[in-house]
Amino acid sequence: MSRTLITSALPYANGYIHLGHLAGAYLPADIYARYMRLAGKEVLYVCGSDEHGVAITISADKEGVPPKQIIDKYHKANLEAFAKFGMSFDFYSRTSNKLHHEDSVFFFEKMLSNGFLTEKEEEQFYDEKAKMFLPDRYVEGTCPVCGEEGARGDQCDKCGAYYEQTELKNPISVVSNTVPTIKKTTHWYFKLGQFQEFIETYIESNAGEWKENVLQQCRSWLKMGLADRAITRDLDWGVSIENAKGVDKEKAKGKVLYVWFDAVLGYITATKEWAMVQEKKGLGVKADDWKKWWKDESTQHIAFIGKDNIVFHAIMLPALEMAFGGLIMPHNIPANEFLNLEGQKFSKSRNWSIDLRDFIDDFNTTQAVDALRYTLATSLPENKDADFTWKDFQAKNNNELAAILGNYVNRVLTFVHKNMGGRVPILPDSYSKLQSITKDFALFSLMYKDRTEEELHTYYTSEFESKLSLNDFNILLAFSVGARKISRMYRHFRIKEAVAETMNLARAANKYFNDEEPWKTIKSDPDKCHKTMFMCTQIVYSLSIFFSPIIPYTSAKIQKFFNISGLILGMSNGGVPTKNFIREAVNFLVPEGSEIAEPTILFSPYEDDVIQQQIAKLGINATPTHNAQHIESNDGLISIDDFSKMKLQVGKVLEAEAVPKSKKLIKMQVKVGDERRQVLAGVAEHYKPEELIGKSIVVVANLRPATLMGLESQGMMLCASDSAHNLFFLTPEKDIADGSVVK
Ligand code: 2FM
Ligand code: ZN
Repeated sequence: MSRTLITSALPYANGYIHLGHLAGAYLPADIYARYMRLAGKEVLYVCGSDEHGVAITISADKEGVPPKQIIDKYHKANLEAFAKFGMSFDFYSRTSNKLHHEDSVFFFEKMLSNGFLTEKEEEQFYDEKAKMFLPDRYVEGTCPVCGEEGARGDQCDKCGAYYEQTELKNPISVVSNTVPTIKKTTHWYFKLGQFQEFIETYIESNAGEWKENVLQQCRSWLKMGLADRAITRDLDWGVSIENAKGVDKEKAKGKVLYVWFDAVLGYITATKEWAMVQEKKGLGVKADDWKKWWKDESTQHIAFIGKDNIVFHAIMLPALEMAFGGLIMPHNIPANEFLNLEGQKFSKSRNWSIDLRDFIDDFNTTQAVDALRYTLATSLPENKDADFTWKDFQAKNNNELAAILGNYVNRVLTFVHKNMGGRVPILPDSYSKLQSITKDFALFSLMYKDRTEEELHTYYTSEFESKLSLNDFNILLAFSVGARKISRMYRHFRIKEAVAETMNLARAANKYFNDEEPWKTIKSDPDKCHKTMFMCTQIVYSLSIFFSPIIPYTSAKIQKFFNISGLILGMSNGGVPTKNFIREAVNFLVPEGSEIAEPTILFSPYEDDVIQQQIAKLGINATPTHNAQHIESNDGLISIDDFSKMKLQVGKVLEAEAVPKSKKLIKMQVKVGDERRQVLAGVAEHYKPEELIGKSIVVVANLRPATLMGLESQGMMLCASDSAHNLFFLTPEKDIADGSVVK
């Protein structure tokens, strides 16, 4: 039997994970992993922080701290955020770990001795002012392929091109904003060019299975021809090759592996670490067991990534695996397109983003987490870019999770409590045939597995009429056909459709309840009513299993209403296969007569004001981007004229009060000379309103007024922010008159 190794792109530990990342490579992988575990498969899901490369060193330069501080901070934050969003990793590692460094060097050495690396002296950009080579993102310029400005030194975000740095047009050093010179340096190149044919065959062998976007990108790469690629860099942060066997120590001085080379190996080293930890814990796994996940042909590696990572996973990784020897290649790479936010690209600098930690700060409930998981899962950017909107979040929560699923669970369990003593009803004798019907049903739907639901309906009279009513037949059919459809969709990475189909099960359940009218039969036909509610309670439990890959917290809540030990949520289970719960879920799993806890509301609706507050937060306190500066002047500097457009004045805070229902905003009345202005500032987590009264502050006085939470802000208070995000308002050194101009 095949086993499934699932990986999600290792996120750079240089920033907080936002919703775009979640929808790209993490949520779909988690849903898939949970589903596969529920289906009884042997599954291992690994991920970790990508902690090397220029992405990290640039962030460290910006925050003015050593890279180690950056990776520690963001690794911890992202690990916590992932846990809160229910990512069911079996292991979450980091590429700064010793084992990863040692193994990456070993990989490099083996490729060298296998003859797949070559040493070359080549030209690279050099920053004369900063006295350093400028690998990758240290230079920006115009993309040589599509002409996009502000493209990075190794890759263009706009068109996905991945080029040698010196091909970049109009290069500018991001370190000193000067034009770099070109200098020679020695690097080790991977002979990727040799793999052209091999990769072509590999890619085409996956045609029909892989997503079109992935195949297309690979084909256009292959059409351009694969060239040798430098896999080392001049940098003092990363996996050093100074002590690697087979290289000249002098030449290897100051060289580290190219981040993409060691990052993709991170999947393997994370698996090794997982096996070692399991062995240490005595969990029946041996350290050597990593091999079955990476060397055994019956393992299928599914690599979840965003579209900007396609080339590294579909071309580089398999070629490296081939060059190393004895490793399996990705079985599928279901890369997602991008997620936008309220119609625009995510941008941290424009504050057009929702970080997972911000979401948790504002909505600290498992309901909200599940509502977000569900909203994103219903609109994953599987085949084209998708859009997250707060209104959609509200609608999905209120109109689907609350009105369909939550409502069904609540009306069933409340009914059982009110009328049946809070226990799963016992099937009356006249309906006892139902107990064995699910087996007949499983057989029936297997026998006719190619028929549509409509076609199967026609068999009611011939096969089932003597055993069960049409309503019962319909609901059992909906679940058995639905389960099959859902499985097929998940297995083909059509997660969005699987999620829609899962909600259809809850719709069918509501329809069954309505059609059976138990509120009438409780008086007119109590046996039938007991039968109906027996079915309905079983369905509640089944739904909790079908929904668990999508909304695990809610599924856990539902399962806890029942007196059954063990939760069925597709959680990490040490890579061990269990029974097929998806198949089981169409059976009657809750014992007759067993107790059910008093239900609680699963999803409360979100009111408009909560949603409006979130919309209003987008885009405030934005900082200008590096790229924006580029477009204006090319050297990142602004002229005195640019600066003088800004009217900065001293203001005196007369009144200050917290804005109700907002954690961040304080509303102030500020006197600026003869004027009195209302200014809103996002400082409530740093100052109490009374601490601001009487203070002199600096306001941007000619800012176009903005409305935040229904209140107008007529200016902006200037604050300085440190690396821990503490805010301090700016104030003149001496007490001077309000209205004074700051220049
Ligand atoms: O794009 C990124 O965030 C990279 N850190 C992804 C790396 S995926 C893999 F190679 F580890
Ligand atoms: Zn481009």
